[in-house]
Amino acid sequence: MNVAILCGSLRKQSYNRKLLNTIKHYAPTHWTFNEIPIGSIPFYNADIEENGDPKEVTTLKEAIKQADGVLIVSPEYNNGMPAAIKNALDWAASPPAESPLPKKPFALAGASPQGAGTVQAQTQIRQTLIAIDAHVMPGPKILVGRVHTRVGEDEEMITDESTVKRIKNYVNVFDDWMKTFT
Ligand SMILES: Cc1cc2nc3c(=O)[nH]c(=O)nc-3n(C[C@H](O)[C@H](O)[C@H](O)COP(=O)(O)O)c2cc1C
Repeated sequence: MNVAILCGSLRKQSYNRKLLNTIKHYAPTHWTFNEIPIGSIPFYNADIEENGDPKEVTTLKEAIKQADGVLIVSPEYNNGMPAAIKNALDWAASPPAESPLPKKPFALAGASPQGAGTVQAQTQIRQTLIAIDAHVMPGPKILVGRVHTRVGEDEEMITDESTVKRIKNYVNVFDDWMKTFT
């Protein structure tokens, strides 16, 4: 299974990157990963698109097209999804007739030092993906609240036992979800 990854946090010491590392660690051994850099994609602009996709967008669309599924691991900013994620999805959705998003299996995950663990960001991402006819896995949900208590500052992965248990189940359900559509 070729899994494309979009990470919504662009900072080095990101908790969401630690969550992503944990998901990768417990993923089935037959998964391969292709993380798509989204931090340098220009803002969506139909005038730019008219003259051809920027190279970062070509990379994004090609990686999603080749993937059996896409994993989005993202923080929540101001009760919503980060602009970098929305921008990547807007580019990938356009033009609709050539978009790699429709029918593509997706799974979402997120972590926050606050209690609700990115529930509002994930709701927004899900809404956008449903609007473009992607197959978003309904559950189990990975909403890691109070993430700073579940990982040490100098650790690269989440070590909290109950979170790890949920992640182990989540990756297996996503494996089945991707197989349903391939
Ligand atoms: C501009 C901004 C807005 C934020 N808004 C929210 C929010 O609405 N909900 C939330 O749970 N955390 C919010 N946070 C806190 C982030 O969850 C926290 O900074 C988190 O560590 C970011 O993810 P990262 O560690 O992967 O970079 C916000 C942080 C920033 C910088």
